[in-house]
Amino acid sequence: MPSTTSYWKAILRVSSLFLCFSPSLVWAAEKCAKDYYIRSLPGEPADTAFKMHSGHIEVDANTNANLFFWHVTNRHIDARQRTVIWLNGGPGCSSMDGALMEVGPYRVKDGKLLYNEGSWHEFANLLFVDNPVGTGFSYVNSNAYLHELPEMAKQFITFLEMFFGLFPEYEKDEIWIAGESYAGQHIPYIAKAITERNRINAQKWNLAGLLIGNGWIDPKTQYPAYLDFAYHAGLVQRNSEVGKRLDAQQATCLAHLQQYGNLIEDTSCEEILQLILRLSLDEEKEGHKQCYNMYDVRLKENYPSCGMAWPPDLQYVTPYLRQPDVVKALHVNPDKLTGWEECSGAVSSSFRARNSKSSIELLPDLLKDMKIMLFSGDQDLICNHIGTENMIKNMTWNGATGFETSPGVWAPRSEWVYQGNPAGYYQTARNLTYVLVYNSSHMVPFDVPMQSLDMLDRFVGVSKEGLGHIPMKPSGKQSSTAGSGSIPANSTLSDEEEKAEQEKLEKERWKAYYRSGEIVLVIVVIAAGIWGYWVWKQRRGTADGHTNGIAYTGLSQGKRSRRVADIEDADFEESELDDLHVASPVFDRETAGEGRYSIGGDSDESESELPKRFEKRS
Ligand SMILES: *[C@@H]1O[C@H](CO)[C@@H](O)[C@H](O)[C@H]1NC(C)=O
Ligand SMILES: *[C@@H]1O[C@H](CO)[C@@H](O)[C@H](O)[C@H]1NC(C)=O
Ligand SMILES: *[C@@H]1O[C@H](CO)[C@@H](O)[C@H](O)[C@H]1NC(C)=O
Ligand SMILES: *[C@@H]1O[C@H](CO)[C@@H](O)[C@H](O)[C@H]1NC(C)=O
Repeated sequence: MPSTTSYWKAILRVSSLFLCFSPSLVWAAEKCAKDYYIRSLPGEPADTAFKMHSGHIEVDANTNANLFFWHVTNRHIDARQRTVIWLNGGPGCSSMDGALMEVGPYRVKDGKLLYNEGSWHEFANLLFVDNPVGTGFSYVNSNAYLHELPEMAKQFITFLEMFFGLFPEYEKDEIWIAGESYAGQHIPYIAKAITERNRINAQKWNLAGLLIGNGWIDPKTQYPAYLDFAYHAGLVQRNSEVGKRLDAQQATCLAHLQQYGNLIEDTSCEEILQLILRLSLDEEKEGHKQCYNMYDVRLKENYPSCGMAWPPDLQYVTPYLRQPDVVKALHVNPDKLTGWEECSGAVSSSFRARNSKSSIELLPDLLKDMKIMLFSGDQDLICNHIGTENMIKNMTWNGATGFETSPGVWAPRSEWVYQGNPAGYYQTARNLTYVLVYNSSHMVPFDVPMQSLDMLDRFVGVSKEGLGHIPMKPSGKQSSTAGSGSIPANSTLSDEEEKAEQEKLEKERWKAYYRSGEIVLVIVVIAAGIWGYWVWKQRRGTADGHTNGIAYTGLSQGKRSRRVADIEDADFEESELDDLHVASPVFDRETAGEGRYSIGGDSDESESELPKRFEKRS
């Protein structure tokens, strides 16, 4: 009895469940925005009030290259719409670090998501991307890992084109690219690619600036700073036996740098870091040799872990991101065959950037067009603040060198006070801002989330009077711990335009997005454990041989994104590498030699832990 029209309507309704009517529609499986919508996340608090999307975007069909993103909409609307893209380091470390341990809306504990009051999505949309392909939830055919920075940037541009195709409402946002550590290489390359794209494209992207925390940007000044920092922080005494040994290695490193110029990676210089970790502490704890945590020298760990088991949240994040219901909720493609891993050895061992110039060479040009902030947690060794300061001192941009604004005149070092306490200091000249963050590790927002938000808001020009700096709970209520940071009225970090925008802003304030929906609290840790064990059993056969074949040459690791097994010949399949890694101290620690996982909390860390390159992770 239905009329023809209603019949057609019914068909349309049904088919729209499967099809996305967009001009770029090529075939039915093409995804549209709603396919990325996160309905709910296991363990999420009940009062979550913002929209999130996540999933894969294919950037190269020939190599099955798919980048994974997680997008979080802002809680409050400011006068200007902003999108902050966040990238972690490595190369090969997942930006889920940023999402779940640093600047994202949640922290994870025991399968539950706890709201992060310092989340950067207060006045900005956040876009976390697992970059380059193969990192985190991203994937690619195992013969197609990237090697150089320009090809990484090219794929990232493809990703952004597709992302804005899916979510055109963000294309006119101010774009800020932020990240840490080895992302200090990625970010300037992506920024350069965007400026080049803008020159030839009618729809410009409004790239406003960059924020790089403990960045690996200029190895030729940063490598020698390992020893400077070790002396400065008192990890090693000058003229001691260890000091002399390090001085000798430093000389070798300097000679190398002299000879080979602006390499992004140099083995003889890496060796300085290795030696500091191996020799600086003569201490045992419960029969284990101790070493400093290379990401936070206030902490010590069993040698040769030295920070690999840090931060402690990793023990919750890894199992959480491997829960089948989480994987499903985040729309991870079934093509992503292996479980989430913080850092990918396969990506890291391919991405050596041997023919790429270091990103320091890109900064002066970028600074002509945009603001750049370099911030440093003062307790980090691997990409330490002394190296960053030396780099700035020697960099020439916008007509002068370093923070010397005119001969003999230096940009003032201003105190940064947050809620009445010293949070650090900052210096600004000619579009470059440097911030030293007190009491902070390599992963600044991990240690001081509220201060990191304050830093972001000032830098990107969030209006403070009336609404900035009073962190809001997702419900829109003022958080009890909130209070205005004390911002110097003439803070160079804040934006002059603020006042003008004040009125416009008032109208739009407190407009939070609400997302209703039941929150399903299904604790599946045990199920995930069984699943993980099953997956491991499936793969175990292929892994065993290689596990025993690796030579344990001591530790050699990366800048918190070089936290990967040191496997130079990359002729392993990705799945095998996955098995070789120690991904989480609790969930699937592999005891070397036996290939045995201990599920549960027994911390049988041993000296025979797999060797790693240090990762420039954050
Ligand atoms: C700083 O960047 C802006 C664009 O944000 C640009 O207009 C200005 O010329 C730059 N400043 C200098 C000193 O180059
Ligand atoms: C300092 O900068 C100059 C010019 O950019 C460069 O040639 C030199 O290698 C740099 N020195 C260090 C120690 O980085
Ligand atoms: C933080 O750092 C500052 C400056 O280095 C220091 O004065 C202060 O005692 C530190 N606070 C804590 C809690 O460690
Ligand atoms: C702000 O600038 C004024 C003059 O421009 C100066 O007197 C004052 O000390 C500055 N305040 C701070 C906190 O830097």
